[in-house]
Amino acid sequence: MLIGLLLAGQHTSSTTSAWMGFFLARDKTLQEKCSLEQKTLKDLNLLDCCIKDTLRLRPPIMTMMRMAKSPQTVAGYTIPPGHQVCVSPTVNQRLKDSWVECLDFNPDLCLCAIGAGRHHCIEENFAYVQIKTIWSTMLHLYEFDLIDGYFPTVNYVTMIHTPGNPVIHYK
Ligand code: HEM
Repeated sequence: MLIGLLLAGQHTSSTTSAWMGFFLARDKTLQEKCSLEQKTLKDLNLLDCCIKDTLRLRPPIMTMMRMAKSPQTVAGYTIPPGHQVCVSPTVNQRLKDSWVECLDFNPDLCLCAIGAGRHHCIEENFAYVQIKTIWSTMLHLYEFDLIDGYFPTVNYVTMIHTPGNPVIHYK
């Protein structure tokens, strides 16, 4: 259980933080606005929305699986007992008919949640607090830039989808 907790909390939060760094480095105006938002943690609303849109476009966990224990009917389909269904935030959170400009990083949307239902992430609030603590400190100390415009591709090889070759410039 301890390993589960550590894995559930460590790679997910660090990957989200890393991706958010690239989104902020790519948009210097947004980065400046976030760095000026130096208040108490609960008032970091812009940074909060930046985390949400990072989680929308780069969810560290690509699929969530459930097994039907009894027959379930969803949207006209019947799922027999013992069959599995899979939901993918990576797909759902960039559907063209659900999101305007679905591939653009847009903190104004400020909508994404971590999982849903009974097994919704139990430490979502903690994740936000730690990512905001780290990034509000880093933005206070440094300025971040992409190196020659390099924005990482998604590394789909690992279970948690990290940025490929995550190099960034800071001063
Ligand atoms: C940005 C950071 C995080 C992300 C993206 C994330 C993502 C998720 C997702 C998608 C689920 C639902 C899985 C499912 O429905 O099958 C989940 C559940 C869970 N998360 Fe997180 N998580 C984060 C941070 C954390 C932290 C910091 C902890 C603990 C310190 C944690 C502990 C857990 C646990 C124990 C569950 C299982 C809940 C259950 O099955 O009832 N997570 N997380």
